[in-house]
Amino acid sequence: MKHTITLIPGDGIGPEIAANVVRILEASGVEIEWETHYAGAQALEKFGETLPQALLDSILRNKVALKGPVTTPVGKGFTSVNVGLRKALDLYANLRPIRALPNVPCRYPELNLVIVRENTESLYAGLEHVVVPGVVESLKIITEKASTRIARFAFEYSCREGRKKITCGHKANIMKLSDGLFLDCFRKVATEYPEIEADDKIIDNACMQLVMRPEQFDVMLLENLYGDIVSDLCAGLIGGLGLVPGANIGEKGAMFEAVHGSAPDIAGQGIANPTALLQSGILMLRHLGEREAADRTEHALLKIFAEGKVRTRDIGGTAKTSEFADAIIGTMT
Ligand code: NAI
Repeated sequence: MKHTITLIPGDGIGPEIAANVVRILEASGVEIEWETHYAGAQALEKFGETLPQALLDSILRNKVALKGPVTTPVGKGFTSVNVGLRKALDLYANLRPIRALPNVPCRYPELNLVIVRENTESLYAGLEHVVVPGVVESLKIITEKASTRIARFAFEYSCREGRKKITCGHKANIMKLSDGLFLDCFRKVATEYPEIEADDKIIDNACMQLVMRPEQFDVMLLENLYGDIVSDLCAGLIGGLGLVPGANIGEKGAMFEAVHGSAPDIAGQGIANPTALLQSGILMLRHLGEREAADRTEHALLKIFAEGKVRTRDIGGTAKTSEFADAIIGTMT
């Protein structure tokens, strides 16, 4: 079956890693027609807006997008394109599998857990205003609807992927109403899935446990802000942000993207590591039901890492982005 997928190459290293990931995914045997669209600074320059309607329409039509990193200027200019895309398409579930790769130095080479982050609410929605000069208010919105929806997503995902336990991280001891509601919704949904163990931990303790004994976690369910922070912490446990994939999923579509940014310091040199975007592409193949192609690509990636001969500069090698991609393609064919 041929898939039509929206491709957002992004800024900085985005186009370099996207072009190589496209080559690898196509070598896996799937038939893909790519609809390439711009977002952020490039779209602003070409079309006068950072999130052109044609891009949103393309994702709504195709229901799947692969996205490279997009630059967000700090403290000026437009608001985050990433947050804008998640809002516009109601991509309410952020999925981040955390798994170490062979031969990458890290604290927990055996770690294999998944973060499920609510993507639309909480303090991360950025609803802030000045009450009087010198006093600001930032609103933490938690709703029963969004909390129930993300809890159900986490349980459904766990059943589908053979995961055994979900730990809900919260601060319901202090934020009794907001985090209390999030936790209540989790517990209610948990009763529908007796085969999955449901556990909860206060978020500060959960962070300490993650650093000391992370193997006790399988799937973690977190509201938006905790999810943002804890997923980077977890990336650090397995070797850093450059390797970790991400997916943003909703009823209207799904967008797969690397967790790292546009790396302007190395852009244009052809030396960026495409692994995080490739792993996002593998998640995308699984989402599309292309399990065989996903497995083939993943085996090739793991083999190249296990051999340790072709490595990009960020993980101690000298290979160019395209040489790394060639090695993976060579392993598949
Ligand atoms: P960054 O992730 O772009 O870079 C941090 C460091 O990691 C840099 O030294 C960079 O060279 C290195 N790095 C990142 N990805 C790499 C890769 N694939 N291969 C090799 N080295 C890599 O973070 P930074 O510098 O804070 O952000 C740069 C821009 O990216 C900002 O405008 C930021 O807003 C944006 N950004 C976009 C994201 C997205 O579109 N999902 C996510 C995070 C940041």
